[in-house]
Amino acid sequence: MPSIPHIPADRLPALLRAMPKAELHIHIEGSLEPELIFALAQRNGLSLPYPSVEALRRAYAFTDLQSFLDIYYAGAGVLLTEQDFYDMGMAYLKRAAADHVLRTEIFFDPQTHTARGVSMETVIQGLHRACRDGAALGVSAELILCFLRHLSEEEAFETLEQALPWRDLFIGVGLDSSELGHPPEKFARVFARCRELGLRLVAHAGEEGPPAYVWSALDVLKVERIDHGVQSVHDAALMRRLAQDRIPLTVCPLSNLKLCVFPTLQAHNLGALLDAGLVATVNSDDPAYFGGYVNDNYTQTFAATGLGAAQAYVLAKNSFEASFAETRLKRDWIAKLDEVFEQAAR
Ligand code: HPA
Ligand code: ZN
Repeated sequence: MPSIPHIPADRLPALLRAMPKAELHIHIEGSLEPELIFALAQRNGLSLPYPSVEALRRAYAFTDLQSFLDIYYAGAGVLLTEQDFYDMGMAYLKRAAADHVLRTEIFFDPQTHTARGVSMETVIQGLHRACRDGAALGVSAELILCFLRHLSEEEAFETLEQALPWRDLFIGVGLDSSELGHPPEKFARVFARCRELGLRLVAHAGEEGPPAYVWSALDVLKVERIDHGVQSVHDAALMRRLAQDRIPLTVCPLSNLKLCVFPTLQAHNLGALLDAGLVATVNSDDPAYFGGYVNDNYTQTFAATGLGAAQAYVLAKNSFEASFAETRLKRDWIAKLDEVFEQAAR
């Protein structure tokens, strides 16, 4: 680890943007920009309930998670062909590469598509082809299949069965969608099966839901990372558990702001999570909907909360360590991170 140099506040944004990083919490359907929604609607002969890109963007005013999900699932309705999924994936990967993302673990929601008659093969093959082509952009990309928690565990099992012919094309499973009223333990059996299959396990918990959901994601589902997890600060024993077991949290500050989890970015608890010794990371969640990609999440949060270069280094290092990549790759990426910080010190 380099000794973290003092970086004047005016040079910190450039360092935040230039530093190598991993993104571990990005829903690919949430990277669908209004322009691409309109282009895909036209290509597929679909009409949209909004007259223009600007009118659609104006509808992105959310009061909570559910108010976002309603519009997010509607937007994904323009995705029909393998090429659509590929184009969405490549558009995100180009933005990620521009933000110096060296590794990304991409969530996708197959049930949003299979429910509309799009085949699992179309979804996975299109996204996989994009991930493969991400290598040429300098981005290592893998897929994580998410179950929609507002649907039943039986439907999650059916989704898993449909995906198993492409088992080699995704590295793990997650749990997303409406959190309140759908605790992790609802999916205990399907996660146990995924564990037997050697899939990596993550789950959204403690975004809007209580610390009890984070406990059950850990103890019942046996997940390796918690997505969001910001409500954990309300349970001191949980905070000790997360720190002791080095369970990463994939925090998404602009998402939390836009979904009113925190009233302002200044009030975000990212700094408190780091101070408590948790392995926090910074991510974009649904960048097309929440007003920023991963670098915007770093620069806006740092500007609002007064975090500095030392925290920037820790967050970027955490992002690589918390990834599901091979140890050798993690070592190479952290060496690159160290180089950028050593250069910034000169
Ligand atoms: N929470 C739950 N489900 C989601 C989210 C989120 O932040 N983004 C996309 N699906
Ligand atoms: Zn999410």
